[in-house]
Amino acid sequence: MCGIVGYIGPREAYPIIITGLKRQEYRGYDSTGVALINNEGLQVYKKKGKVSELENALLGKPLSAHIGIGHTRWATHGEPSDVNAHPHESNSGKLAIIHNGIIENYALIKQDLQKKGYTFKSETDTEVLVNFIEDIQKNTQCPLEEAVRMAMKRVAGAYVILLLDVDHPDTIIAARKGSPLVIGIGKGEHFLGSDATPMLEYTKEVVYVNDYEIAIIKADELVLKNLGNEKQTPYIISLDMELAAIEKGGFDHFMLKEINEQPSTIYDCLRGRLDAKAGTITMKGIEDNIHALTSAKRIIIIACGTSWHAGLEAEYIIEELCRIPVEVEYASEFRYRNPVINKDDVIIAISQSGETADTIVAIEKAKEHGAFIFGIVNVVGSSISRISNAGAYTHAGPEIGVASTKAFTAQLAVLMMIALKIGKEKGTLELKRYMELLNELENIPEKVQSILRNADALKPIASKYKNAINALYLGRGYNFPIALEGALKLKEISYIHAEGYPAAEMKHGPIALVDNQLPVIFVATHDEYHSKIVSNIQEIKARKGKVIAIITEGDAIIPSMADDVFFVPPANELVAPLLSVVPLQLLSYYIGVDKGCDVDKPRNLAKSVTVE
Ligand code: F6R
Repeated sequence: MCGIVGYIGPREAYPIIITGLKRQEYRGYDSTGVALINNEGLQVYKKKGKVSELENALLGKPLSAHIGIGHTRWATHGEPSDVNAHPHESNSGKLAIIHNGIIENYALIKQDLQKKGYTFKSETDTEVLVNFIEDIQKNTQCPLEEAVRMAMKRVAGAYVILLLDVDHPDTIIAARKGSPLVIGIGKGEHFLGSDATPMLEYTKEVVYVNDYEIAIIKADELVLKNLGNEKQTPYIISLDMELAAIEKGGFDHFMLKEINEQPSTIYDCLRGRLDAKAGTITMKGIEDNIHALTSAKRIIIIACGTSWHAGLEAEYIIEELCRIPVEVEYASEFRYRNPVINKDDVIIAISQSGETADTIVAIEKAKEHGAFIFGIVNVVGSSISRISNAGAYTHAGPEIGVASTKAFTAQLAVLMMIALKIGKEKGTLELKRYMELLNELENIPEKVQSILRNADALKPIASKYKNAINALYLGRGYNFPIALEGALKLKEISYIHAEGYPAAEMKHGPIALVDNQLPVIFVATHDEYHSKIVSNIQEIKARKGKVIAIITEGDAIIPSMADDVFFVPPANELVAPLLSVVPLQLLSYYIGVDKGCDVDKPRNLAKSVTVE
């Protein structure tokens, strides 16, 4: 989704903005632009394509300035084009705006403005907004900040905006409702971003702007106000993130780096929480709310995409260990239907970014019904972490590759710890099994490492199947959500159509697809259904399908039946998904790379989906 960057202070703004935009490229975008104010006035440059293309096009332009804003656009209103790219200028040419989000009632506002003689160059809701603000300012003769406040009261939707006014070259005005905005506090300077990546080398002190707040930002002053024009105290937090965390560190792609980081990210997620020897799990968010969790009549998990798959895995594990009924909902459906939510329901919201618009609105809806919200989030300080009643961070570090990998395994690790803790506390999980699972979980990072050591074994499999048109992923029980996740990864990264199915459900329809061209990927690590999945493999082989199986070391049956196999270390079936997903991530990665796809930024996808 769109990325925004801003700077005001003594340094040159342009290089900070361009570097910041490049760091936010992972969010997904199709066009880009900057606005600066310098001695020559307001300079606006924008272009369809990559940030580097804009940079090349601007060589020799008057770019020296100490105030500026920059944007990467992910098209919503109007196709990707130079004209639709941000920043947009107001009709007077005095204001320039960048915007992340959607103004839902822009069409009506546009009609009114057109009646007043305003004209529009682009198809965007953003150009409507900047002229709406200008019109309010003109009619009421108020300061820009006041006009923004009035506009915010009248526009519907989710957005964050940054505004420059050529008549006030010492101020950036920002406003937020529903999309993220981080302000970095320097000495006599301020940095702005959709996330903290543009400011990491300059400051670790940041403020996360809240919904319905307006920020008036000068080089040496930051004022936050609410819609009632009351000053708000900025809540400054210190970032625990280093620049190295957002660089590729010698890997060809962020996705490969992040897959390879999993032994340490899972370890970091468990560290300080799980102590297998002592038999303890320490999680403050759970301990403080243990009564709500153990007495929950039902747990509803809301999430999207890969995070939803982690939720589905949690359904199997929580029901098994805690005997609490669990429902797993797509946030995008939950928010629009009329779900039954009771006061003693607990909602677990899962999100890597903590900014997914559908998940945020679903949480707000559940809150209106009085439900208790437990957030499982990766990005520290993100919106979902702040609107949840309690929660746990996954501590996977910044995930830059658009396809989620290390965040998923960290989510599984957190969910597993939660299930173990609730199960033990409720008495639904006997001590022996609890201790055994604690040990199993603690050993996962080392086992993931051993899978990664053997990653090259997947390369020939990837080149063998890279020209497939379709692929089927099958798994049973705890491996069914992993089959879904494997299929999603392949779709995203290689554009091969892939479907995940419960292995036994295959014969109710998808089996019609099987022919001698179709790769069928079985997630078949050793569990209580092993003989059943062996039968499913036979059903595919009988129809000449190609079988690729992820199996446990020592499996003596499947290698003789499958076309290709990849072994993972033995593990208890409840924690085995943390292992079986890793070869699937790698397989998608190698296929994507073999096909020449842009694996870190797959077409049409955005890392942080801040529009519905
Ligand atoms: C898949 C992927 C997406 C996200 C989904 C939710 O690789 O990355 O499906 O999982 O957009 O995002 P978060 O977890 O940030 O809420």
